[in-house]
Amino acid sequence: MLVVTDINVYYGAIHALKNVSFYVNEGEIVSLIGANGAGKTTTMHTISGLLTSKTGDITFMGKSILKAEPHKIVKLGLAQVPEGRRVFSNLTVQDNLEMGAYTRSINQKREIEADLEMVYQRFPRLRERRRQLAGTLSGGEQQMLSIGRALMSRPKMLLLDEPSMGLSPILVQEIFNCIREVNQNGTTILLVEQNAKMALSVSHRAYVMETGSIILEGKSSDLLDNALVKKAYLGGE
Ligand SMILES: Nc1ncnc2c1ncn2[C@@H]1O[C@H](COP(=O)(O)OP(=O)(O)OP(=O)(O)O)[C@@H](O)[C@H]1O
Ligand SMILES: [Mg+2]
Repeated sequence: MLVVTDINVYYGAIHALKNVSFYVNEGEIVSLIGANGAGKTTTMHTISGLLTSKTGDITFMGKSILKAEPHKIVKLGLAQVPEGRRVFSNLTVQDNLEMGAYTRSINQKREIEADLEMVYQRFPRLRERRRQLAGTLSGGEQQMLSIGRALMSRPKMLLLDEPSMGLSPILVQEIFNCIREVNQNGTTILLVEQNAKMALSVSHRAYVMETGSIILEGKSSDLLDNALVKKAYLGGE
């Protein structure tokens, strides 16, 4: 579904991504794990069109999106939940969710309402708080809102950047359960995480990034047993 081939991204003189290649099949959850500064967010931003690679290609459902603008990429069915839960603080929960449908046409009003209902069913807490300003939600609620908003674009594939960041263990569990459910309902997921243990337990396959390169890949269950991964990312258990 998503094929990233040989991308190189620079921030001025910094070579942030070095010949990165990987793929995500339809229906999969694939995780990208790695330490701070490994290049995970840079990879996400290159896929979603916020950064560009001078080499290689990125195709989504057979079509190159390497040079496409971010809103066109969303419209094709590839939505991103950015790092740090960027909700619109001064808008209500419901307004935030409706913003998520911005790439869809006005005559889809009925479908958009049905999707809003679907998001509220998945996150009852958001329904209770639909008139509340998003900036006053707790961290976990903002993360749910951020995911809910991305779902409002009816994505075929979701890019999630560190969904567990800053959440308590119970909320992390809740967010990962939700990721699993969204996937079971037919959305393909690329998950970026520092929480390697959770990411590997929820995903089918994974790639390990280090200083701008992918150094390891495989089935998540195999990586959970891999000595290097254990030592570097799972606290050496
Ligand atoms: N706007 C920028 N200007 C210059 N360098 C940047 C910029 N954004 C990121 N970098 C550098 O690129 C490298 C990769 O950063 P990136 O944000 O992709 O890492 P990451 O894997 O997402 O890390 P984290 O887990 O901390 O979010 C880092 O060395 C970072 O300092
Ligand atoms: Mg990051």
